[in-house]
Amino acid sequence: MVTGAARGIGRAFAETYVREGARVAIADIDEDRANETASDIGDQAFAVRIDVTDGASITAAVKAVEERAGGIDILVNNAALFDAAPIVDITRESYDRLFAVNVHGVLFTLQAVAHSMIARSEADPDWRGKIINMASQAGRRGEPLVAVYCATKAAVISLTQSAGLDLIKHRINVNAIAPGVVDGEHWDGVDALFAKYENRPMGEKKRLVGDAVPYGRMGRADDLTGMAIFLASAESDYVVAQTYNVDGGNWMS
Ligand SMILES: NC(=O)c1ccc[n+]([C@@H]2O[C@H](COP(=O)([O-])OP(=O)(O)OC[C@H]3O[C@@H](n4cnc5c(N)ncnc54)[C@H](O)[C@@H]3O)[C@@H](O)[C@H]2O)c1
Repeated sequence: MVTGAARGIGRAFAETYVREGARVAIADIDEDRANETASDIGDQAFAVRIDVTDGASITAAVKAVEERAGGIDILVNNAALFDAAPIVDITRESYDRLFAVNVHGVLFTLQAVAHSMIARSEADPDWRGKIINMASQAGRRGEPLVAVYCATKAAVISLTQSAGLDLIKHRINVNAIAPGVVDGEHWDGVDALFAKYENRPMGEKKRLVGDAVPYGRMGRADDLTGMAIFLASAESDYVVAQTYNVDGGNWMS
């Protein structure tokens, strides 16, 4: 089950997992786009509506995936929103919206899936579950215009540590991926916000951040799929509560 998989990085993960033999639930608030993505990927993908800010929607989505696929082996908590503003202009509305999707969404989707996974782990001593949260380099360090998003991603790194330590006794691995700057529709929006606040032409911020990556360019969703496979596989059974940077060398920790 991949949340926010209708487009972007989540979609690339869904395509990759199907290629690797999984059945994938494209769980997204954008139902039309999720359906389109699922039908593009083929009959091993199916769309499920989820609003990760809403407990009832999370419960219903988890139930729908269990019924359709017989259980959830891998959860990717990928849905998130971005916003930017100088500290003095941050609104309560923007703060609430970002924390609702990026933090509440991650914790309570993880919790709902953990309930389901614990039942399976108790029934079958050989079964293992994998949960992957999408953090960000933004969670490693604050940025002047990105305070709220950075704080939500720092919270994702922290929740990954706590959930990872708590759930490993049930043979559920919780880890996270911290991408750097990944081109796509998400970054089109980021670029537009920087154009506004830093008074730049559209596209300039993308060029600057891409040039600053040690690897030499912005990331692409496909640059992250190797880590997504690793963290979902038996090869990562001994990896617990970690956040991996996949960012072309931007951050070291
Ligand atoms: N693109 C980057 O540069 C970058 C960098 C670091 C981290 N990330 C993280 O990677 C993840 C994916 O990023 P992306 O670039 O593919 O983002 P994106 O904006 O392209 O896709 C996000 C998806 O989440 C869905 N979504 C939004 N609100 C939702 C809700 N309430 N319930 C369910 N689904 C909802 C959207 O419909 C969309 O399909 C995010 O967690 C993001 O913070 C991205």
